[in-house]
Amino acid sequence: MMKKTILSALVAVGLAGGAYAAEDEAESVVTDYSFSFEGPFGTYDEAQLQRGLQVYTEVCAACHGLKFVAFRNLGDEGGPMLSEDQVKAYAKQFDVYDAELDDTRPGKPSDYFGTSSYDGAPDLSMMAKARAGFHGPMGLGINQIVKGMGGAEYIASILTGYTGEEKEEAGSTFYQNHTFPSGWISMPPPLSDELVEYRDGSDNDVESMAQDVSAFLMWAAEPKMTARKKTGFLVFIYMVFLGALLYLSNKQLWAPHKRKD
Ligand code: HEC
Repeated sequence: MMKKTILSALVAVGLAGGAYAAEDEAESVVTDYSFSFEGPFGTYDEAQLQRGLQVYTEVCAACHGLKFVAFRNLGDEGGPMLSEDQVKAYAKQFDVYDAELDDTRPGKPSDYFGTSSYDGAPDLSMMAKARAGFHGPMGLGINQIVKGMGGAEYIASILTGYTGEEKEEAGSTFYQNHTFPSGWISMPPPLSDELVEYRDGSDNDVESMAQDVSAFLMWAAEPKMTARKKTGFLVFIYMVFLGALLYLSNKQLWAPHKRKD
């Protein structure tokens, strides 16, 4: 009897898990793109971040803000690494409201990117950490241990996930997108092939631009990732060393008291 109960419980859990996984897949398709910053030693690819910045500036910035990022951060170590002059020139393109002048003036390196200007468009500063591309099985997040959280993958998949279908609902247009959880997003497809002309002549199809801008947004959300990984690795080495030392001293301390037979 007990055996039967346990068996049916296991089967039920198994079935529910299967159903959950199937539903999950149908709802949100996230491609497991491979990014340079993945894994314990992954770092940002400077050239890719610069391309992503260009996509953000020329396309996404029309609607989305990036209010937690300052222009001067674009010159930081481990980021897009623009030179001081490039940062100055970049900041100047933006009109920034200055409370002291009670007017707008050209941006300075110490200013921040603006807030979102389009109704309903969320700020993108933390987006790559606010969304997870990988879940399950059964919401346990085991996939994340293997694949990472997948914030950048989620964003790239949204940008490439449009099916081309549209619908009108309550006066707004929605676009079918197989990555967006509800299946219909109010953001019009922002990218099309060759939309951005890269200065380094890199591929500018939708897939490439989507990955570049997602890498840039990952950096925006976690600019110190490389430093964090470096510290983590040093701590790891230190722990291994300390562990070995403790083990050996423990042995030595107890050696006289152990029976030798
Ligand atoms: C025409 C304005 C517009 C442009 C241009 C635009 N977006 Fe959006 N975006 C929106 C709106 C509106 C939403 C909210 C969609 C919704 O919740 O249905 C949104 C939502 C998003 C989301 C959040 C999805 C989620 O899970 O909530 C991401 C990520 C995003 N946009 C990234 C981008 C990127 C990257 C670009 C540039 C390549 C871009 N957007 C260009 C208007 C825009």
